[in-house]
Amino acid sequence: MNECPIPASELYTDEFAADPYPTFARLRAEQPVCPVSSPRFDSYLISRFDDARTALADPRLSKDLYGPQEHYLRIFGPNSAGLNKNMLNADPPEHTRLRRLVSQAFTPRRIEAMRPRVEQTVNDLLDKIVPHGEAELMRDFAIPLPMLVISDLLGIPATDHDRVLDWTQVIRTSGSSRRSPEQERAAVQEAQAWLHRYLTELVQAKRANPADDLISALISACEQEGTLSEPEVVTTTFLLLFAGHQTTADFIGNAVVALLTHPDQLDLLLRQPALLPSAIEELLRFDGPLPVASPRIVSEDVEYQGVRIPRGSIVGVVLNAANHDPEHFADPDLLDLRRVRGPHLGFGHGVHYCLGVSLARMEAQIGIGALLRRLPGLRLGVPVGELRRLPAASPFRGLLELPVRF
Ligand code: HEM
Repeated sequence: MNECPIPASELYTDEFAADPYPTFARLRAEQPVCPVSSPRFDSYLISRFDDARTALADPRLSKDLYGPQEHYLRIFGPNSAGLNKNMLNADPPEHTRLRRLVSQAFTPRRIEAMRPRVEQTVNDLLDKIVPHGEAELMRDFAIPLPMLVISDLLGIPATDHDRVLDWTQVIRTSGSSRRSPEQERAAVQEAQAWLHRYLTELVQAKRANPADDLISALISACEQEGTLSEPEVVTTTFLLLFAGHQTTADFIGNAVVALLTHPDQLDLLLRQPALLPSAIEELLRFDGPLPVASPRIVSEDVEYQGVRIPRGSIVGVVLNAANHDPEHFADPDLLDLRRVRGPHLGFGHGVHYCLGVSLARMEAQIGIGALLRRLPGLRLGVPVGELRRLPAASPFRGLLELPVRF
């Protein structure tokens, strides 16, 4: 097996975090299936678009992390509080059962009904920003918007929003403080344990007093079909809470930076707001918040691009490399809001394709549209090279802070 031409030390630097795309281009060109060691675990990275799409739908690349082989121990560590035992980490038929039940509650009607609430939340957040002429957009907008929306949707009481936000941020930003790796791990475990306790009590309270919210709908889907257990409602709620805000927050931050560093495209969007839906897809292709899909485990030896990947290996499908594959997208490093060639892999592919795609699109379109309308003259508050980012080893691509002026 050939070693990866790019040493692991190069993959986890600040330069890589600032701009991983030249490295992704080398991966695609030089070794499109590449074994690497990361601070989290060793894996094979798959970086070309066609391979990535095939891999995401390949049943031999399993997501069954909680089966008898307990692969979750390698991915999340021994004290991960079991919150990740949800549909994202299951294979069919278990995945099909969970996704079908969750889809009964997470319906297009329920999501569409959130539209006025999303608009209201966006306007409330912007009302607080507008008078100041400057803002820290992650703290003031990109993080609270999806967090408030998913909390409302789930039925998390408004009085608890701040606490839940604080604990989820401990998990999101782990690895970015000056604390030792042991202290970081302990902080994440404490946050997960708090969220586990909190969500368990909340689910029990909703069972006693159902309301018109997503947690109550998940519970009743369980009671009608007899198939969503209480721990499953808790872990599904955690998945929706986390998947529902983390990616969307990072996406909004990345999208704003992309627009502010491509003034011609920003100008185009301001002149033609009808481009917004396609602009959102292009911004997601251009700099998505989930650079690598969640880890897959090889259940029998597979071969990709002539490279044998042995059973038991972990595979990372590099969505952000695939979305810049010149075989699939002309001029892939160009931000072109009028681009028609699609679809990209930013929302994944196959059975685990993003369940929240309509909500994510709604929040991004309403949020970014209003931001550009209400903050005229929007510009970065620091040079782009000085933006503080999540660490390169984070599973997410996003900003710690986004200072802007307008
Ligand atoms: C799965 C991206 C927003 C809920 C996924 C996957 C991707 C993704 C790539 C597949 C992961 C894999 O196969 O390893 C995104 C992006 C978002 C976003 C880029 C925002 C811009 C949301 C929202 C929600 C959500 C708002 C819900 C409230 C989920 C769920 C899954 C998922 C539940 C797991 C589906 C399954 O395992 O069948 N998302 N997501 N996502 N997403 Fe999203």
